[in-house]
Amino acid sequence: MEEYITIALPKGKLFKRSLDLLAKVGYSAEGVSENSRKLVIANEETKVRFIITKTVDLPTYVEYGAADIGIIGKDVLLEEQKDVYELLDLGFGKCRLMMAVPEAKKRSELKDYAHLRVATKYPRCAREYFDKLGIQMEIVKLNGSIELGPLIGLSELIVDIVETGTTIKENKLMEVDSIFTSTARLIANPVSFKLKFERLHKLVVDLRAVLAAEKGDKKAK
Ligand code: PRP
Repeated sequence: MEEYITIALPKGKLFKRSLDLLAKVGYSAEGVSENSRKLVIANEETKVRFIITKTVDLPTYVEYGAADIGIIGKDVLLEEQKDVYELLDLGFGKCRLMMAVPEAKKRSELKDYAHLRVATKYPRCAREYFDKLGIQMEIVKLNGSIELGPLIGLSELIVDIVETGTTIKENKLMEVDSIFTSTARLIANPVSFKLKFERLHKLVVDLRAVLAAEKGDKKAK
């Protein structure tokens, strides 16, 4: 009897596109919804089990083998540094990590921000970035609504994700520097990848084909 594969899906911005993509390679997830109270959903026919996790926890589920594979942003992988294989760049969920300040507080050079406070969900990436620049900063870890930091005087700056740019615009912040860009990745538990190689390899090949076809379609339009 074929073994189940467990796929972790992150709540939030990558959720819907991840479901659509998996459905295109035969792993449709009927009954799976982001807001569902049921967090584990199994499809007996395709022998796939879906689990829905908080974004930041997803690499941990995969690292421990609680999920064989998962879909998650490169930004989270860079911050969490878990022992997982990155199998495929899925191309969607494009965003970038950047440093921003309130428009009124703009300074002329990056080093002029030294010793200020930075609010971020990405303390590791932020630390690495400032260390590389040789700038000492005080990093304040928050779990969301980072833009609030400078608005209420918790921090002078933020290091955060920008996707459409709406959030920073609405909060009258301006981007000072871009740190890296990120897209969604398919990741795997290293042991699962060996033990379930055939299925997982086929999944990667099929996903690659779907992504290539979509790219072709876009070009043709
Ligand atoms: C992310 C990020 C920004 C926003 C950027 O937050 O932290 O707040 O999205 O997107 P935009 O450039 O398209 O406006 P998220 O929605 O994940 O929620 P959070 O603030 O609770 O972390």
